[in-house]
Amino acid sequence: MKRFLLSATFLSAALTIMAQNVTSPDGKMMLSFSIEKGRPTYVLTMDGKAIVAPSHLGYQLKKENSDKSTDFDWKPSRATDKDADSKADFFSGFSLLSFENNSLDETWSPVWGEENSIRNHYKELLVKLKQSKNNRFMNIRFRLFNDGLGFRYEFPDQTNLTYFVVAEELTEFAMTGDHTAWWVAGDYDTQEFNYQTTKLTGIRSQMKSAISENSSTTPAGPTTVQTALQMRTGDGVYLNIHEAACVDYPTMHLTYQESNNTFVSHLTPDARGDKGYLQTPTNSPWRTVIVGRKATDILASRITLNLNEPSKIEDTSWIRPVKYVGVWWDMITGRGKWAYTDAVSSVKLGETNYSKLPSNGKHSANTANVKRYIDFAAKNGFDAVLVEGWNEGWEDWFGHQKDYVFDFVTPYPDFDVKELNRYAKDKGVKIIMHHETSSSVRNYERHLDKAYQFMVDNGYDAVKSGYVGDIVPRGEHHYGQWMNNHYLYAVKKAADYKIMVNAHEATRPTGLCRTYPNLIGNESARGTEYEAFGGNQVNHTTILPFTRCIGGPMDYTPGIFVMDISKMNPSNNSRVRSTLARQLALYVTLYSPLQMAADVIEHYEARPDAFQFIKDVALDWDKSLYLAAEPGEYVLTARKAKGKDEWYVGCTAGDHGYKTDLSLDFLKPGKIYQATIYSDAKGTAWNKNPESYVIEKLSVTNKSVLKGLVAGVGGGFAISIK
Ligand code: NOJ
Ligand code: CA
Repeated sequence: MKRFLLSATFLSAALTIMAQNVTSPDGKMMLSFSIEKGRPTYVLTMDGKAIVAPSHLGYQLKKENSDKSTDFDWKPSRATDKDADSKADFFSGFSLLSFENNSLDETWSPVWGEENSIRNHYKELLVKLKQSKNNRFMNIRFRLFNDGLGFRYEFPDQTNLTYFVVAEELTEFAMTGDHTAWWVAGDYDTQEFNYQTTKLTGIRSQMKSAISENSSTTPAGPTTVQTALQMRTGDGVYLNIHEAACVDYPTMHLTYQESNNTFVSHLTPDARGDKGYLQTPTNSPWRTVIVGRKATDILASRITLNLNEPSKIEDTSWIRPVKYVGVWWDMITGRGKWAYTDAVSSVKLGETNYSKLPSNGKHSANTANVKRYIDFAAKNGFDAVLVEGWNEGWEDWFGHQKDYVFDFVTPYPDFDVKELNRYAKDKGVKIIMHHETSSSVRNYERHLDKAYQFMVDNGYDAVKSGYVGDIVPRGEHHYGQWMNNHYLYAVKKAADYKIMVNAHEATRPTGLCRTYPNLIGNESARGTEYEAFGGNQVNHTTILPFTRCIGGPMDYTPGIFVMDISKMNPSNNSRVRSTLARQLALYVTLYSPLQMAADVIEHYEARPDAFQFIKDVALDWDKSLYLAAEPGEYVLTARKAKGKDEWYVGCTAGDHGYKTDLSLDFLKPGKIYQATIYSDAKGTAWNKNPESYVIEKLSVTNKSVLKGLVAGVGGGFAISIK
């Protein structure tokens, strides 16, 4: 590891230092910090032009003796003198006490990732502030990278600020124009939306329809959107606002203020409306602004990971990428069932002997069916089989939610845990555990040790967890501080048992997988399941890499080969809005060390030639090249398999398709490779013969150019080069 750490501290009499600058290592970006009329203020420029115009920083604390944070109704633009006098004001009356400059240039190796070594290179400015009227202190640490900015608030140990309650974080991001934005509605409980593409001034008028993309929402406000928020300026600069290392803190949304073209942080409240209980010394998560002259610069940025702490798990030898199939699509499409019985009224949890109840005949997680999946996984070189619906409680999940639903250790009578463990072990395959918590979170925490021990005892080393429904205890939100602490607790505890975690419906990731690499996946966005619930927008997978995936890998579950869902279940007329070739491309364009081949066995057996790509594609990479991209239109990515001279290329396209020549100059010179190209057949689009594809094999070298590669509308192509 190469590491240079430079540090300099400058102390000066208060009030004499008014402003400080720091430049990025390449000198092209500049961060200027100043105190404007007592308010901490920053500006970010690139090539001398503002990217973030002067923006204030600070906090509104909860008023003492106030029951609710929200009754304060504080709006930054309406701050009054009365507010400024209050102890709740932690945004004005500041002076700059001192500052420090640091820099770092190091490279580190992730346990798994898009590349085998990551450079962490920044210049840092730490400003130490004092709010004299309340005799309180706050520091702000800025890190400027060549590709953007990270900053966070730090609250040192001090007499007049020990425990405090946040009413709102007041971090501003002032925009410099009416940018184009790709966003999902701000919501405290779901992220499973299609994306909207509007100008900033169009957010409000699109919000109603944006929210209607999901039926169970807790909307955050008429102009509030989620991060990672991707934007493009009129000058063609790409910027992306998100956060890194969100720990013991609520998830941040952004409220767009039309009056001054500014986004302001909007934290997820708890059941009382409070937005964070903090105790000094502590700090906020990092707020990030990734900046690129090209869209692909955003995809190549490692700011989110670099702002997280190195792995806290010392022995990571048990953590590995996982390619899996599963007893899953069957139920998602409605062909099979999670529940063993439909005799709901006869079930008394903890008392019922299920083997005495009539089976509904559609229970997919039965021993024979799971064995079929184990055989299929073993034959095709998959690591694991996910099995959902194996445990008691699914028949009336919502009805039971009042006290408890699942205990995570009691199988239905037709699922033989011991026998399946033996069978899977014999075949060299793992079964992936499923914990649907039903969002009964205290119930889950009470059972967690037993549930993880049960996994260890029965040969499981990975769990998919889920948080469907309103959080119990009631009133908490999926993205509040309380839940964010829970998700991390579940991941840390899993590490004690050497268990890898893939949490669905959990908060959107902020790069914590660097610190806890057993967090190998999250859903936290609209995944493939929605292709069976009405469909995903055609350009969905061209936006996800710029938004959801900025914080960490997504368990998108691609690989659907039959696009007409009514073929699985005649009463489900949903359609997958993708071609088959694009389903292959997603294994490359949507990075994840955890990849599912989500379709059912018979659909793969019917098309072994296309399935070959899923069997071949790597999960872990030495290098990733983002060759061409435009959010909403197309993404073209090439990746080199870790430790092998093999490359995989993927292209996913939106409503206008994509056509390109592809130079293979990234291959090793003087070597002949075998390329297999899987592309949409001529004229194929998501709504026109989506399942027709062509496969072409040819010998290539680093001098080859593949001419006229075409992805249809909602289509794509995938290439393996060995
Ligand atoms: C929603 C998850 O995203 C999906 O993958 C899972 O099958 C269901 N919840 C049931 O837990
Ligand atoms: Ca989900």
